Parts: sequence; C-alpha cells; structure tokens
Amino acid sequence: MAEGDRVLFEPYGNVAVLRVRNPPVNALSAEVRVGLAEGVRRAEAEPGLRAVVIVCDGRTFFAGADITEFGKPPREPSLPVVCDLIEKAAKPVIAAMHGTALGGGLEVALACHGRVAVPSAKLGLPEVNLGLLPGAGGTQRLPRLAGVERALEMITSGKPIGAREALEAGIIDALVEEDGLLEGALAHARERVGVPLRRVRDLDDALAAARGRPEAFSDFRQANGRKFRGFRAPEACIQAVEAAVNLSFEEGLAVERRLFLELLASPESAAQRYAFFAERQAAKVPDLPEDTPTLPIERVGVLGAGTMGGGIAMTFLNAGLPVTLVETSQAALDRGVAAIRRNYEESARKGRVTAEAAEQRMGLLAPTLDRSALADRDLVIEAVFEDMAIKLEVFAQLDAVVKPGAILATNTSYLDVNAIAAATSRPESVIGLHFFSPANVMRLLEVVRGDRTAKPVIATAMQLAKRIGKTAVLVGVCHGFVGNRMLAARQREATQLILEGALPWDVDRVLYDFGLPMGPFAMADLAGLDIGWSRETSTGSTVREVLCEMDRRGQKTGAGFYDYDEARRATPSPVVEQVILAFSEERGFERRAVSDHEILQRCIHPMINEGARILEEGIASRASDIDVVWINGYGWPAYRGGPMFYADQIGPARVLESLQALQAAHGEQFKPAPLLTRLASEGRRFQDL
Ligand code: 3HC
Ligand code: NAI
Repeated sequence: MAEGDRVLFEPYGNVAVLRVRNPPVNALSAEVRVGLAEGVRRAEAEPGLRAVVIVCDGRTFFAGADITEFGKPPREPSLPVVCDLIEKAAKPVIAAMHGTALGGGLEVALACHGRVAVPSAKLGLPEVNLGLLPGAGGTQRLPRLAGVERALEMITSGKPIGAREALEAGIIDALVEEDGLLEGALAHARERVGVPLRRVRDLDDALAAARGRPEAFSDFRQANGRKFRGFRAPEACIQAVEAAVNLSFEEGLAVERRLFLELLASPESAAQRYAFFAERQAAKVPDLPEDTPTLPIERVGVLGAGTMGGGIAMTFLNAGLPVTLVETSQAALDRGVAAIRRNYEESARKGRVTAEAAEQRMGLLAPTLDRSALADRDLVIEAVFEDMAIKLEVFAQLDAVVKPGAILATNTSYLDVNAIAAATSRPESVIGLHFFSPANVMRLLEVVRGDRTAKPVIATAMQLAKRIGKTAVLVGVCHGFVGNRMLAARQREATQLILEGALPWDVDRVLYDFGLPMGPFAMADLAGLDIGWSRETSTGSTVREVLCEMDRRGQKTGAGFYDYDEARRATPSPVVEQVILAFSEERGFERRAVSDHEILQRCIHPMINEGARILEEGIASRASDIDVVWINGYGWPAYRGGPMFYADQIGPARVLESLQALQAAHGEQFKPAPLLTRLASEGRRFQDL
C-alpha cells in the first residue's frame, strides 16, 4: 500500500470522511498522522465541506500510537500536534469508533468535537501497561469530560470500558447501530453543522468540582498504593491529572508532555514495552507454519474436580464451552461443584458477572462419576493427583473411552508428558496444558509439547488459549517445565539461606521489595506446607517437615513459617526461628549475617542460570518466552521485564561473575550454564539470541 493510501479522503455530500486503513489495528503511525493532518486541512479549505468524520477500516478504530516507533527518532507531525489541529479546526470533526479505541486512538477522539461509537466498541487508555501515560492530551481532556475520579481510574488501571458505560460517563455523545457506524456518524456530523463547536479543552465544570476536593488525589494514592507498588507510571498519571485540575489547559499539556518523555526514557517502560511484544511473540511458534490445521474444540472434559480441575472447568465455562467434569467419588464431585458454585456466587456478589451469567455458566457444567461421558469430548484435561502411577492408569482409560482424534491433555506440574503419552495408543494427541492456580484467574498457560505431539494439536492448544483468555507459552518436556523448574532453583537457595543465617522473613522481604507479590516462605504458607507430605512417612529431614509435624502446615492451620491472626495477617514466628536455629546447629552450620544483596543474588541468579539451561536444551524457544512465563504465572514485576530481560539489564557478564563467585564459595549448584558463559564472552545478551 502506498503511504498516501493510509488515509483516504472521501466526500459524502457536505461531509469529508477520513477513512483510515492501517492494518492490523490502525496504529497511529507517522503516515497515518500525516494523512489525518492533511485530511483535516483539506476539509477546512474546501468551502463545500461543512464537517469531518474520522473512521477506520478493518477490525478497529485506532488502537493507539504505533508502539514500534517509540525509541526511534520522532517523525512529524507528532500525535499531540495532530490532536491540536483537529480540536482547533473551524469545522466539526466527529470520531466514529468501533473495535478498541485505545490510547492515542481515544486521545484523537477526545480532540474531536463529537464522538459516536457502536455498542460493542471498547474505549480505554492502556498506556500505563506500557509504563507510559496518555501523551496526546488524554490526561487533560478525559477529566474534563468524565470527571477526575473516572479519569484517574481509567488512566491508572488501563482497563477499557464499554461504549454504553462511556456514554453514561459523557465520554461519547451517542451510540449508533452496530452495522451503521458511518451513517450514524454522518448524521451526527450534519447535526453539528452551524452549531458552536464543543471543544473539550474549554470544559471546566468537572474540574471545578474537583478543585473543591483536593484530597481526592491523596485518597486515590493511598487506596491504590499496593497495586501501584514499584511501578513508575501510575504516579505520573496522577500528577498529570492533578495538573489538569490545577493549571490551564496548555500548562497541563506541557506537564503531561514532560512526564510522558520521562516515562518513555525510563527502564520501567522499556521493560513493559518489551513484555508487550514478548507476549505477542510467544504466540508464534517457530516450527509451526501459520497454515497448520487446527481441530475444532466445542466440548471439553475435565478429570478431577479438585483445586485445579475446578478452576480449569470454570475457565472453559467462562468462555461459553460446555464442560463434563468427572470424579471418582460423589463426595469429591459434590465438593468440586460446590466450590465452583461458590466462586460464581462470590463473583456475582462483587459485580464481576451478573447472576444470570453465573447461572448460565453453571448450566454448561455436567458433573458425573461416569468416565464414559467423556467419549464425545473434543478435548479432555486431566487434573488428578500428581502421581505417575495414577496418571498412567488414567490415560490408558481415557485412550479407551474418548473418541479418536480428540486431544488428551495433562495438567501435571512436573511429570514426564512423554511417559504419560506412551500410556495411550495415540501419543500424537497427547499434550500438557499446565494451568496455574487459581486456574480461572491466572493468565499463564504452559503448553507442553511431547516428542510425538502432532503439530495440529499444538496449533489447536495455542489458539484455544487465546479463546479462553490465557497467554500461552509453548515449552518442552523436563522436570517442572519452564516455570516450576526455575522456581525450584530459587527454592533450593531460599531453603539453604535460612540454614546459613537468614530468616524466612528476611528472604521474603528482599524478594517482595524486588517486586514479587510474595517471597518463597509466604508462598509456601499460602499453598500449604504439606503438599506431598504425610505424617506416616515424615522423617523431620527438612525445616518444612518439622513444621508439618508440629501441625504448622501453613495459612490453613493458622501457622506455618509465619503465625497468622484471624484476618490471615502474617507475623514472624519466634517458634519457627527457634526451630530453624536448632536445625542449623544440628546440621553443623555456623550461622552468619546474610546481607540483602546476597539474598537477592542467590535467589535470582540461579533462576537466570536455569533459564539459560532451559534455552540450551530447547525447552523454551526464546528468552522472552521465559519472561512471559514469569510475568504471567509467578507475578514477576512487569517493570523488570522478566528474569532473562533482567539478566540482560545487569549484563550476562556480571551474572556470570556472580555465579562463579557463588560456585567457589558454595559449590557446583552454581556452575554457570555454558550458554551464559558464551554470551558473556561474546558480549551479547539473551535478547540477541
Ligand atoms: N502499535 C504497534 N503495533 C501494535 C499496536 C500498537 N499500538 N497494537 C497492536 N499492535 C500489533 C501487535 O504487536 C500485533 O502484531 P503482530 O501480529 O506482528 O504480532 C498485532 O498488532 C495484533 O495485535 P494483537 O495480537 O494484540 O491483537 P488482538 O486482537 O489480540 O488485540 C489490541 C488487539 C487490543 C489492540 C491489542 O493489540 C492491544 O492492546 N494493543 C496495544 C494498545 C495500546 O497499548 N495502545 C496504547 C499505545 S501507547 C499510546 O497510544 C501513546 C499515546 O498516548 C501517545
Ligand atoms: P487436588 O488434590 O486438589 O485434586 C485432585 C482431584 O482428582 C481430587 O478431587 C481427586 O478426587 C481427583 N481424582 C483422583 N483420581 C482421579 C481419577 N482417576 N479420576 C477422576 N478424578 C480423580 O489436586 P490439584 O491441586 O487440583 O492438582 C491436580 C493436578 O494439577 C496435579 O497434577 C498437580 O500437580 C497439578 N497442578 C496443581 C497446581 C496447584 O497449585 N495445586 C498448579 C498446577 C498444576
């Protein structure tokens, strides 16, 4: 397509339509900005034209600035300049929105004199997710239209809202028929001809109201402190909206610009933009051609109604897919179904779904003890106990029952998917679908390809993930796959550190301050210390076992590594401290002071090292895939871009040095991976692979 073709100029009677064609998402690239500016100028100059409509072809109105341009030399005209030109036009300009009007896209609409949208459209300012703020007037115009509170919420959460809500909030002027966007926009434009133009910059009522409530900003900061922890952008977003309230429009724009440029240059935004592209990259599998056929998945079966089975079933029910849920006993089945129902009731109570939608989803669930009910399922996911003997038996049974061609998936956390596949006569149909707990909430899905998994099965799994709202990463078979294997490396060190001299709360504090949602010991308490433990076989060989024997089995027993009060607030336990001191002494450790720096290095660098091995072995195909796993499955802070990105920031050479030092001091578990050594000697990064 020629550059000039990005924005077509089409007169419809006395209205000029600027039709944008920049697939796939009509990002506001330099060519589009030029086309918009030229189009508006031309409409201004032609006397027969009285109004302008901006509409986009394809699946969506502008989904934002062109993110690929960030970090490159700026090209004129900038988006703020285009918005200024639109707003100052003497003829009414109307935005006609469909799909997702996001970021700079919504900002263009806010600069227009009127806005219409189809009911299915979504509008939002997601810049904060890229470590940025709306940099084309959004922080100044949105509060003028929708009020300070709504603007703060939308800008700092990045969450889009539906067109109806936008209408109620005063962000758009009218809804138009789903299949009559252009006609509706043209009619709206004609109504505006000869009427004084409404420029958002001139509105002041909502801001005046906010000036009477200056504490709104500090209240908002306080209410969201935990959510914003570690991120740089939310505070800048708040400051920009504060500027809208307290300064003139032009001064406010200047503040917004300054803050935007500061964020654009920040390491946090670089990491978050990397994460955005890493996630999209993960969906592309190097050896899977785009035209790989996929299998239709319309009916799903889940085996096991425990913690994971229930959450997995909900994930599919939420996407409108009927689920047959199979258990071995009525009691377990009832427990599982009751947990699902409770979950939906809770969501309805919190207003996340309507009671009707919750009921509808429950209606799609068919609980049964009869395994043969799985016969006609297109996909069956096994989520029974983590025990190889049981898994082998279950897969042999599934093989006998489920129709040929159906996908048989295991949710195993650690076990060998190839061995599981070998229990069937159709290993090509077997795959790992490793969901994370709680499965209906966590976005990550590790798709585990076995040696013999067929490509259409892989392609189907990757496609299905998107349909059920998950971020999929394709990984290979090894103990723990990508996520849990790296977690184990960290866990080993955390356990060791408390024997050498640190205490659980020291380790947890350092990792929490680094940006993780919780440290390894708080996480163990949450999950339950007794996973895989039994009183009969317990030998008190680890601190964890000793705690279980004392019936300190984690949050559920009110005590684990920490003591818990009724509100499940944790405090360091003096009892546990004594247990650890005694255990260390018994094992011959001379306890010493362990610095925060050492804790961080010993927990994180072995993870990076394990990540390097995972890459060497081809378990993950890219370093960025590993980062997607950690951000979406383990709460690695997005503003640090994932462990491999973090390694690149420190520099592979420095990670190598630290591992070598640790190896000399503590042993072979720190032996650097050959890939890391190679990158360090070549001066390259994981991203360059
Ligand atoms: N710029 C450049 N490329 C973009 C883009 C953008 N703003 N948004 C999406 N793309 C690309 C994706 O990288 C992907 O490319 P690929 O096919 O080569 O991998 C392609 O468009 C399709 O994207 P998705 O796979 O994400 O498609 P979906 O249909 O799942 O989602 C979407 C569409 C909801 C628009 C999603 O892409 C999205 O959320 N995009 C980002 C929106 C955003 O953050 N906008 C704000 C940008 S910053 C800004 O506007 C600054 C301003 O304030 C000055
Ligand atoms: P769970 O113990 O909560 O549930 C397992 C359920 O399977 C029980 O209800 C049991 O009655 C049922 N079951 C056992 N044998 C069965 C059979 N033959 N047919 C039908 N049902 C059977 O276990 P959980 O935590 O849900 O784990 C299930 C699987 O998911 C395991 O492989 C585990 O490793 C994996 N996993 C667990 C995660 C977690 O955080 N709990 C996270 C990711 C994966």
